[in-house]
Amino acid sequence: MNLETRSRLKPQDALSAALASEMADVNALIQKRMASKHAPRIPEVTAHLVNAGGKRLRPMLTLAAARICGYGGPYHIHLAATVEFIHTATLLHDDVVDESEKRRGRPTANLLWDNKSSVLVGDYLFARAFQLMVEPGNLQVLEILSNAAATIAEGEVLQLTAAQDLSTSEDIYLQVVRGKTAALFSAATEAGAVIADAPEAHVKALFDYGDALGIAFQMADDLLDYWGGDATGKNIGDDFRERKLTLPLIKAVAKADESERAFWKRTIEKGKQEDGDLEEALLLLNKHGALEDTRQAALDWSDKARAALTALPPSDLRDMLDDLATYVVARIN
Ligand code: IPE
Ligand code: IPE
Ligand code: MG
Ligand code: MG
Repeated sequence: MNLETRSRLKPQDALSAALASEMADVNALIQKRMASKHAPRIPEVTAHLVNAGGKRLRPMLTLAAARICGYGGPYHIHLAATVEFIHTATLLHDDVVDESEKRRGRPTANLLWDNKSSVLVGDYLFARAFQLMVEPGNLQVLEILSNAAATIAEGEVLQLTAAQDLSTSEDIYLQVVRGKTAALFSAATEAGAVIADAPEAHVKALFDYGDALGIAFQMADDLLDYWGGDATGKNIGDDFRERKLTLPLIKAVAKADESERAFWKRTIEKGKQEDGDLEEALLLLNKHGALEDTRQAALDWSDKARAALTALPPSDLRDMLDDLATYVVARIN
């Protein structure tokens, strides 16, 4: 693809165009493995979520990493599908835990069916992910991906216990985000490099890129939860209603005066929320520059992601990953 074409497309679309034939293989493998002969509820739920699209960022990262590292075999397709399965399973579970009603612009599975279906179909997808990740017969990628699955769950549980706790620090927040989101991004890029037998420095560069990209991505997502609109395909103010201590809130609480603290105690700690509270919360976030500071933190992680790429040999795909790191935070500019 020439430079002009690339600059006209969104980075995720440029990546998707550059990786089109491999992504078609990944999508075909996903369709095949999300089916079930014995339980019709499974394909109903998986089709609802999988066919709603989704950006497919994580599998593209795996494919791109493998290609950047010169991989010539077929198994990056399995790894990319694995990563998307793990992602889809966590989304099903996450929407139950968060009691969310909208995902990928559609009603969530927990709303359309029920929590039981979401949890069980999520489990099924996790199990399918494990079957897929074994197939390349590479113990190191098995370790990377299975570790990621454990780390994501750990991050979600840590977030659960940090919710409603006004003393949650930025360090704990970072640990949550690294776990629940960045772990899968870094596993996606690292696994692609490892399957290609890349030198240690390149594996590390791609791991660091995925880690920083994932953190920037989640920080932007947390900002958009207060800032976004319909374009995100999710509802605004979910995190506030769930009393989650995300970075914007942590920053505003740190600067709260006495009456503001009373407001946060009532709405977040005690969960006694009334009409107009979300608007009041937004006023306080703006007053203390908490949204702007969160935006800056996301931009800094995006810079780190791009810096990590400099350890890799120059290529079109490397440039696209660079653009992607800019893009995930461009959503908040
Ligand atoms: C959503 O991820 C979950 C988060 C980590 C915030 P994506 O925004 O990549 O979800 P899809 O796959 O494109 O729907
Ligand atoms: C999603 O976290 C991370 C995982 C799916 C593990 P969030 O709960 O913050 O993301 P959204 O806003 O529901 O996509
Ligand atoms: Mg959620
Ligand atoms: Mg969540």
